[in-house]
Amino acid sequence: MDLRSDAVVLFGVTGDLVSKKLFPALYELTRRGRLDVPVIGVARSPWDDQQLVTTARKSVTEANNEVDDATFDRLADNLSMISGDYADPATYQRLAQRLRGAERPVFYLAIPPAVFGAVVEGLASVGLADRGRVIVEKPFGRDLESSRELDRTLRAAFDPQRVFRIDHYLGKEAVEGLYAFRFANRLFEPLWNNEHIDNIQVTLAEGFGTQGRAGFYDTVGATRDVLQNHILQVVALIAMEAPAADDTDAFNAAEVAVLRQIEPLSPQSTVRGQYAGYRDEPGVAADSNTETFVATRLTIDSPRWAGVPFYLRTGKSLPGTATEVVVEFKQPQRSLIPAEGGAEAPANLLRFRLGRGDGITMSIQAKSPGAEVTSRPVDLSVDFGAALGRRQEAYERLLDDAMDGQQLRFARAETIEQEWRVVAPILDLPAAVQSYDKGTWGPADADALAGGWHTPDLR
Ligand code: BG6
Repeated sequence: MDLRSDAVVLFGVTGDLVSKKLFPALYELTRRGRLDVPVIGVARSPWDDQQLVTTARKSVTEANNEVDDATFDRLADNLSMISGDYADPATYQRLAQRLRGAERPVFYLAIPPAVFGAVVEGLASVGLADRGRVIVEKPFGRDLESSRELDRTLRAAFDPQRVFRIDHYLGKEAVEGLYAFRFANRLFEPLWNNEHIDNIQVTLAEGFGTQGRAGFYDTVGATRDVLQNHILQVVALIAMEAPAADDTDAFNAAEVAVLRQIEPLSPQSTVRGQYAGYRDEPGVAADSNTETFVATRLTIDSPRWAGVPFYLRTGKSLPGTATEVVVEFKQPQRSLIPAEGGAEAPANLLRFRLGRGDGITMSIQAKSPGAEVTSRPVDLSVDFGAALGRRQEAYERLLDDAMDGQQLRFARAETIEQEWRVVAPILDLPAAVQSYDKGTWGPADADALAGGWHTPDLR
């Protein structure tokens, strides 16, 4: 068992990710008694300790409705700042000095990939890579080759066991719930195959645009931003076979096995869209061909899934925000009970709501009231927040795990390489993106792709 980290260093502490996710996570860990070690912020901006504390307080206040002063003060007492250039050796000397007493610091790289190399080398130059853990944020490169290159950079300095690659969807309790649902229940597993399932849809919809990150987003686009990572992780959890044992290696092996069976995506069954007005946003190229929407059809070449299409879509400025998996079952083998009004009965659906208000809705056919024996759809629904109480935030769990040296909820290099292999044929397509109006479900061609998308339950 690895020993817990005794210091946290946040590179890129002035950035968006730290204020939106990491300060609230550090606060929550402090509240739960899981964090009482130095937290050092590093950035190029000339901040002092007070600015760091003020920013942390603001971000914790925005994330939680109320802040417990005693808890925040405990966190604030641990915070300190180092301002310096990532290319300047003096930055790392000061950091090494500050970390004199720490045996297992964890370094969080919340910085653009372009400076990863400089930071990793800087840490290695003062001996910190030998005893530290490193957490890297996506995007892991831009394609298969650059992700391998990034991996070589990290491995040159850090032992692979001490590299933690974040795909925060793996840290979401609702996403982990897909795994629990499948393997903790007997009910659905016998049906989980091409004999009973017609198709599976995964939607990651956002009712907002680039939220001030357009400059970054324009170099990335929806495929690299969420399809390659978050959505494929969800597909893997839905489609994987049961791991051979209850441990991290077996889980990873099962996940990689199913990813290997996914056919590379095809440009012919992919629709890329861009919302109208995107090109006018600051930081976006006037002739940008970056997709803010992508819909595609994925197939898995395995006995379990042959013939079952997985329809995937994600986009910004859609009608609302929701992450969902909808499993659509086939019709009964014999249709004895006509649907009310004589139409074909809607299929049974299992809807996993993975975002806000997470839970499960199962749509089944029930007898309609009256003398006739006909059926009508009804929903059986559970809201996990109401049924189970507060669950932890993804970043809170991931930081906690990395400090413990636990790899289970982090992406393996091999997983990421498989994900790049799958999306490779649809990266940087030359065809022009199709425009769509904000507040719609993307270009019309995307509707045709699935032959009937299930509208997400927007909450
Ligand atoms: C991030 C993407 O990884 O995931 C964002 O960079 C996206 O563009 C976000 O909005 C979605 O995450 P969540 O947890 O809000 O569903």
